[in-house]
Amino acid sequence: MKKLEVFGAAKLKGQIRISGSKNASLPILAATLLSNKKISLTNLPKVKDIETMITLLKSLGSSIDENKKILTVNNNKQIKTFAAYNLVKTMRAGILVLGPLLAKFGKAKVSLPGGCAIGTRPVDIHLQALSKLGVKYKIIQGYVYADAPKGLVGASINFPKISVGATENLIIASCLAKGKTILSNCAIEPEIKDLVNFLIKLGCDIKWLTKRRIEINGVNYLSEIKYHVMPDRIEAGTYLIAAALTEGNLKIIGIDPKIISTEINILKKMGAKIVKKKNEILIQGSKKIKSINVKTSPYPGFPTDLQAQIMVLLCKANKKSYIREEIFENRFMHVAELNRMGAKISINGNKASINGNIKFEAAELMATDLRASVSLILAALASNGRSIINRIYHLDRGYENIEKKLKKVGAKIRRVN
Ligand code: EPZ
Repeated sequence: MKKLEVFGAAKLKGQIRISGSKNASLPILAATLLSNKKISLTNLPKVKDIETMITLLKSLGSSIDENKKILTVNNNKQIKTFAAYNLVKTMRAGILVLGPLLAKFGKAKVSLPGGCAIGTRPVDIHLQALSKLGVKYKIIQGYVYADAPKGLVGASINFPKISVGATENLIIASCLAKGKTILSNCAIEPEIKDLVNFLIKLGCDIKWLTKRRIEINGVNYLSEIKYHVMPDRIEAGTYLIAAALTEGNLKIIGIDPKIISTEINILKKMGAKIVKKKNEILIQGSKKIKSINVKTSPYPGFPTDLQAQIMVLLCKANKKSYIREEIFENRFMHVAELNRMGAKISINGNKASINGNIKFEAAELMATDLRASVSLILAALASNGRSIINRIYHLDRGYENIEKKLKKVGAKIRRVN
């Protein structure tokens, strides 16, 4: 089924359990290539991007057993080092196999990710940093041909720009490099901390020196381990915004409020009542939504992955507000669709100005990327009438059972052909 039918207006009430983090699972799955011992992973979300990464690992030769909730990886036979375009093009995180393949095998042929709706998604920072570890590479017909004939050698590397993927690729690659690597100006998203925790448990020698500086000493022995992936903070933030938008009353369970404190503080400033507990968040949306200006930035700033969602809430706020998208160059694809639902949003470069006091009208809509598609669901829940959202394959890349979770808290939502 390719479409979602949503009836608004909804008032969400009840509890939602947060699934495992897609953006922690992807680098951790890629990092399993470092080891030829058994690795069991739990709490991986059942979403398309994880399936694609698993298919990519299997295409490289990883033997993967998925039974019930445990995914077991065994790399005790020869691994290929070729990551094909047809897999990497649909999931840009495929570039994350480059680091582990080079670390373990000293060579790799990996497709460049190519662009997507939100931007060109270059990997120059990954490649420049890898060359500091001794990697030689050339780009031929959309593939990176990389090799390190003498193996990777530790180095001091200062990222010219904060990049989640480049930080992950280099941390993973440095784990088997000879000697010490110091990475500075790292991204420090919670998903990166989760990757580091996984690698330390695997037997890697890693320690954070300062907020954005990390030291990795290469090792040559890794252990057989079990690891439970962290919960998805972007999924949690999405449901918090859904509660604030629909004057709802939700208990979000299975998430540590500390990792989304920026988002919680913004929602409180906008009028939501929020109670934080050890591993859950209670939120009561308010009738009056106060406007606030938002700028996306690397963690611990406001996440770009919640920008489309907070924009929907700002349409319902009492005054005009502004969003500055500082991370991706084209992450306003949802604006045209929201304007078709009655929003009054104008764009000037990376700045969106959002009129408040909007009454969303139900409409037939088109999803363009993962987070834009969920913002259309939010707007449909806040509108009156029947909306249809097309191309929901974007949604299935990153939200586990979203219509089941929303239905359970009172939303009228279902898949249709
Ligand atoms: C990760 O993408 C996430 N994906 C994205 O989530 C998230 O939006 C992004 O980090 C920012 O937080 C995964 O974790 C799988 P970056 P990534 O490297 O690693 C530029 C979602 O919805 N850049 O931090 O690709 C880049 O173009 C996805 O779950 C270079 O110029 O993000 C962007 O403008 C969407 N050269 C900025 O840096 C490079 O070599 C940040 O990108 C690499 C990045």
